Formats: sequence, structure tokens, C-alpha cells
Amino acid sequence: MQSSKIERSGLQIDVFPTREEASAAAADEVEALLRKKDSVNLGLATGSTPLPFYRELVRRHREEGLSFAQMEGFNLDEYEGLPSEHPESYDSFMQQQLYAHIDARESHLLPGIYQNAEEACRAYEEKIVEKGGLDWQLLGIGGNGHIGFNEPGSPVDSRTRRIELDERTRRDAVKQFGTLEKVPLAALTMGIGTILEAKRIVLMAWGAGKAGILQKALQGPVTAEVPASFLQTHGNVRILIDEEASQG
Ligand code: PGA
Repeated sequence: MQSSKIERSGLQIDVFPTREEASAAAADEVEALLRKKDSVNLGLATGSTPLPFYRELVRRHREEGLSFAQMEGFNLDEYEGLPSEHPESYDSFMQQQLYAHIDARESHLLPGIYQNAEEACRAYEEKIVEKGGLDWQLLGIGGNGHIGFNEPGSPVDSRTRRIELDERTRRDAVKQFGTLEKVPLAALTMGIGTILEAKRIVLMAWGAGKAGILQKALQGPVTAEVPASFLQTHGNVRILIDEEASQG
């Protein structure tokens, strides 16, 4: 497998010819953790970016017998107002793309329906701590630089919370929901501070459409206006991208 490396501000950036090869490199990291540790907590992401990564995990389970029995997953975020069985909920996404096909110990997701957002978010943070913290966190990047649903303006020390979605984020979601009116107005998301507590972070991005925001996030100033730029401060982050995304 061919990849080229770029070292920048403590970030390891690996550029692969295809997203499938980049996803296999991420799957290698997860496989190594599963083979080494009795308990593995993965922070997981949704959207189009991680699809080839989940396909690769499922393939390794089916074809190579890789067991996920000691894995627990914690998702980054969930749309407000969607019951877990809603086809566009991230709960449904994770079931379809991953959990229905592997033997994971447990999946944790923020709720779409709740009485009290603060309580739901506090319980989620407590669960992560109780389970020993996140060993490995997967991220995509939004067109506006968000990670999870930490929209521009999210502070570096933000915790899991309710957030109103950006106009840009809602427009990007029309392809899933059909119309803008159907796209939820808000979500619960892990905070930037929560994400940065993961021991290792892997961010993936594909295609020319992500090149500009990646350049800002990885080379630009560290600022809440580009939430992914906070990754420059973490120290154990790997960026996996395809060639098109590297042309920023
Ligand atoms: P995408 O979304 O994977 O569908 O491009 C990424 C994100 O918004 O984090």
C-alpha cells in the first residue's frame, strides 16, 4: 500500500491513492487495539466519510474472523427529535453500517429524544469516564470545519451538549433528508474538550470538496471558527486523506 507522509505541527498526515486504502489503514489501527487490549473503547462517527472504514471492519470480521467482543462504541452525536428507529437517526446508521454485522460488546449513542438535554449529556460523559475513556476516536470533517456537531464558535473546552446546527450543516444534510424542512434544527454532540481527551484521534476526509477546509484546519490558525483546527493541539492525531483531499 502506497502512502505519502506530511509532518505538520505534530499532526501525522497520510495521503493514500484511494479512500479504501486509507480506510484499511484506520482499520489496521483498530485491529491492533483489539488484538492488544481486553477492553477497547472506540469513538465513532457517521456521514459518508466512514462508510468504507465500516465496510472494511465488517469484511475483516466476516472473512478473517476478527472479533469485536471486547469493543464498545461511543458515537459522536445524534440529531434532536429523531427516535432511534428513524431511518436518518445515527442509531439506525450505526446499526446498518456496523453493529448488525459484527459482535461488538456494546454500542452507546446520545439520544435523539430526551426530557432534559443537560442530563442526557452529563450521563453520556459519565459513561465514557466509567468505561475508562476513549482509546481511539474517529472523526470526519464538515464543510465548515466542524467535528462531531461542534459548529464554528465551539470552544476548545466544550463538553457534550445540545447545539443548534449551522445553516451549512443543515443544507449538507438535505441529500439524506430530502428537504431542508425535514433536517433537524439541533443535535446533541460530544464537545471539543470531550473529543480531545481521546488517547488517539484519526480524522478521515475524501475528495476535492474537503481540500480547502482541511488546509484551514491543519495549516491555519487554531481557532474556534474552524473547530477541527483544535486537533493541532492534541499531539496524537493522524489524518487519513485521499489524493484529491490533499490538493488544498
Ligand atoms: P460527511 O460529513 O462524512 O458526510 O462528508 C462529515 C461531517 O460533517 O463531519
